[in-house]
Amino acid sequence: MKLDNPYSRTVTQDDSLPAAQAMLHAIGLDKQKLALPFVGIASTGYEGNPCNMHLNSLAQQVKTALPTDEVNGLIFNTIGISDGISMGTSGMNYSLPSRDLIADSMESVVAGMHYDALVTVVGCDKNLPGALMAMLRLNRPSLMLYGGSIAPGCHKGKKLDVVSAFEAWGEKVKGEINQQDYQAVIENACPGAGACGGMYTANTMSAAAEAMGMSLPYSASNPATSPEKKSECQSIARALRYLMAHDIKPRDVVTRASLFNAFRVITVLGGSTNAVLHLLAIAHAAEIPLALLDLQNISRQTPMLADLKPSGRYLMEDLHHAGGVPAVMKLMLEHGLLDGSCMTVTGRSVAENLAQVPPLAENQRVIKPPNKAIKKAGHIQILTGRLAPEGSVAKITGKEGERFVGSARVYDSEAEANQGIKSGEVVAGDVVVIRYVGPKGGPGMPEMLKPTAAIMGAGLGKEVALITDGRFSGGSHGFVVGHISPEAQLCGPIALVQTGDEITIDAKQNSIDVAVDEAEWAKRKAAWQKPKQTAVKGTLAKYARLVASASLGCITDGDETTGVPHG
Ligand code: FES
Repeated sequence: MKLDNPYSRTVTQDDSLPAAQAMLHAIGLDKQKLALPFVGIASTGYEGNPCNMHLNSLAQQVKTALPTDEVNGLIFNTIGISDGISMGTSGMNYSLPSRDLIADSMESVVAGMHYDALVTVVGCDKNLPGALMAMLRLNRPSLMLYGGSIAPGCHKGKKLDVVSAFEAWGEKVKGEINQQDYQAVIENACPGAGACGGMYTANTMSAAAEAMGMSLPYSASNPATSPEKKSECQSIARALRYLMAHDIKPRDVVTRASLFNAFRVITVLGGSTNAVLHLLAIAHAAEIPLALLDLQNISRQTPMLADLKPSGRYLMEDLHHAGGVPAVMKLMLEHGLLDGSCMTVTGRSVAENLAQVPPLAENQRVIKPPNKAIKKAGHIQILTGRLAPEGSVAKITGKEGERFVGSARVYDSEAEANQGIKSGEVVAGDVVVIRYVGPKGGPGMPEMLKPTAAIMGAGLGKEVALITDGRFSGGSHGFVVGHISPEAQLCGPIALVQTGDEITIDAKQNSIDVAVDEAEWAKRKAAWQKPKQTAVKGTLAKYARLVASASLGCITDGDETTGVPHG
């Protein structure tokens, strides 16, 4: 069957556009080739980050695998920010905005250059939701290739990953490890190409993409340097051909039901809180209604089964050896935790894909059976209350308890909080409040991995809670609540908290409250002054103007004045 070229024919087959055809001849496409569809291969590859360093090579392998007598594969690149490298610095402000830049740039190239189909080759946290958003906005036959996760590092017989390096700082501050071991952890934590190895945001979103049907089975758990990842490039080419031949588009695959599947898999695997933001934004791109409460309902009904880092013991590579994400999904399907009828980019349903998949390995320890769940309900809990009328996102694995009452220790920036933890100002019983780090206030809603890792490293994980209008890295663990909305920059209640106020976080009641009497609260509100926006020009200033609340997924293409999504 001849593959169709509904978009590229605009420039390749119109006699009145000779200049376009002349330029395409220059890149090696003769008249015969110009009649074939154009497939964009969007790589987020770049040299400066292990998660992305191998992606251009994978993109090239995808191109080579495409049938040259049927399509023209055209590689293009977009940007990326390494969360691991920017964490704890001003560079982190660019991380979440990079998601929307990635989506915008992929959309721009594919729409502006009239490509008929798209393969996205992605590797790091924001790459994945950015690419999914672009594919759903464009709605042309598309699928995603995930670069895979990094192999574990090792020091003194202990398996390491990037979060080990963050936590080593806290251990050094506490005097638990010496300078030599600290340096050895840094040098051995990340041994080569691939995304951060635990169930952090990249692996969370790769599992979500696979569960929602937008990548091939095993894409999420095939390690970056495995032979399976290489052979996935061949399978991608075959799958894309099928999608094009049958005109199966992302919005045929991504539905409300498939987004629910994605969040169920995230919950079972103990994935990152960032997934909440990203799923809301992905739903917006697909014009599917999805709200925080929908996710809360799923969380209530779905157990957490995976003993994966950051709160557990194992890495994505261990899950790969245990049977991979498809084996987990098979288990979920058998226990009624998945909708098997959803379509996927294989052209088959979830249930049809899983029928061919072996179950979890017999003696594996990564995934618990549902009757021995690590937590009966999901670890991601949506909390609302006086401190977060629009909602907040808590990560409660149960290991730290489900209720925390403590005394606020307020910091107006991450740097001040880090200093407070380092100096010993933060003590058992504190609720560390880090504010003015929301989508507009940050701007860019930076991740608070450094303070959460320092709290864990200092041995205070069970005695100190942390709440913020910023985000958490997928690597964060402990008693943490983020995405507090409205944010401090918009005079959300978190802006009015003072050191010493009593804060109650209750993950069973899904509430987050502060005990301050009404008169005092009103006085503080009247005295509040909006801090000056720190970003006055450039990309962060644009972002601060456009970004919507975290409770709406921090989308940037909603209504210009209110930030509320269209539709
Ligand atoms: Fe890329 Fe962690 S920095 S996945």
